[in-house]
Amino acid sequence: MSSIARRKVRDLLAAEAGQEVLAKGWVRTKRGNKQIKFIALNDGSCVDNIQVVADVENFDEALLGRITTGASIWVKGQLVESVGSGQAVEIHAEEIGVYGDCDPMKYPIQKKGATLEYFRTVAHLRPRTNTFGAVLRIRHAMAFAIHKFFNDKGFVYLNTPLITESDCEGAGQMFQVTTLDLDKPIPRNKKGEVDYSGDFFGKQTSLTVSGQLEGELGATALGEIYTFGPTFRAENSNTPRHLAEFWMIEPEMSFYDIEDNMNLAEEFIKYLVKYALDNCGSDLRFLNDKYDNELIDRLKSVIATDFVRLEYTEGIRILEEAVKNGTQFEYPVYWGVDLQSEHERYLVEKHFCKPVILTGYPKEIKAFYMKQDDNGKTVRAMDILFPKIGEIIGGSEREWSLEKLERRIDELGMSRKNLEWYIDTRRFGSVPHSGFGLGFERLLLFVTGMSNIRDVIPFPRTPKNAEF
Ligand code: 4AD
Ligand code: MG
Repeated sequence: MSSIARRKVRDLLAAEAGQEVLAKGWVRTKRGNKQIKFIALNDGSCVDNIQVVADVENFDEALLGRITTGASIWVKGQLVESVGSGQAVEIHAEEIGVYGDCDPMKYPIQKKGATLEYFRTVAHLRPRTNTFGAVLRIRHAMAFAIHKFFNDKGFVYLNTPLITESDCEGAGQMFQVTTLDLDKPIPRNKKGEVDYSGDFFGKQTSLTVSGQLEGELGATALGEIYTFGPTFRAENSNTPRHLAEFWMIEPEMSFYDIEDNMNLAEEFIKYLVKYALDNCGSDLRFLNDKYDNELIDRLKSVIATDFVRLEYTEGIRILEEAVKNGTQFEYPVYWGVDLQSEHERYLVEKHFCKPVILTGYPKEIKAFYMKQDDNGKTVRAMDILFPKIGEIIGGSEREWSLEKLERRIDELGMSRKNLEWYIDTRRFGSVPHSGFGLGFERLLLFVTGMSNIRDVIPFPRTPKNAEF
């Protein structure tokens, strides 16, 4: 093979004609006639293919026969101006080699008219499609932009543990981690409770539902931190917006009140959407044209608009008004209710037609750590609700009074013993602070316009599904 360096398709498509090049990748299609073959080659560097033109007389027939959809090949040749391929340049092949054959009769992702549901069953190969290539490149760009946003602001990336003893959200949706032998009788103490002293950690542990509590330890030392890692929830929600394993970004900031928190969250989302528009143009255009022709307009409009800021109480009033005027919801609406996604979507999609930041929730429906308002009823929570998605961010100002925090933990019947380390932040130099969690895949649903969360993560984990 030639000694010239391989160049990626993305780079070649922007290169000057009139030079010898080497490309490598997977065949998307081959067409042509007895004299000439046109091979569309993709290497994952961008959604576009480069066209390879091969004169049949210059190549062995058997070799050309092996160039089928899905096969991996290398091509050396001249980069020339293209006449009709829809691209500025194409490669006139001089040498072609096959790395790996691909039987077109058996290749699972070649099926005509395959649906997104079908592709989930072949998630190990779906990154080779245009759709998943685009989604995964955007996912990468968003991860990069998240680190850039916080790094530029001087936040410290803090790695919080995945195995933990505490249920941050108090929702009891944790996956247990144990090395106890489940084939043997489970050891129990005199009271009949499971005895974890012989378990790996000597106590009951689970996969984390949130890195927030440890994030607060970081923020009350380093000032401003963020986490970005996987979180796990054993909620039996089979919806297009829930995963059992999802990624979350959780910034936590000392000296921020709820207003500062909302401002940062709004700035953050707008930054990410703008980053996608500025850096993922061809992938977004592809998804816009294939699935959702309002995608790019929707992204632009979110950057240009001020998010609505609304008290929960006012939100309930709007919903009750809607019910009076004939809107039918499946679930009841009254002050104190935990809003269902139909309610959230009514506010965002029907009433305001833009993102809404809802604050001042009843304390009963929110987690123990949230700052209590003086009225004794509400907490300084904030949820950001987005069109087509519902809740994309959940956050709050944190209760920083030792006395109030301890009282709330007791009221909820939680164990203080497991949380002494957390409560120490309020014992020693306690400060006002706030934070929030952005669901990475919920963000990606919005940015890519995909409608099922299983299609914006490479290998989705949902109830009864842990394939690959
Ligand atoms: O609202 P949540 O439960 O908030 C927390 O975990 C806080 N500790 C965050 C914080 O203040 N640091 O979850 C935060 C976000 C949600 O708004 C949603 O975007 C996402 O995480 N999320 C999920 N995404 C996918 N699948 C699930 N099952 C999700 N549950 C929550
Ligand atoms: Mg929430």
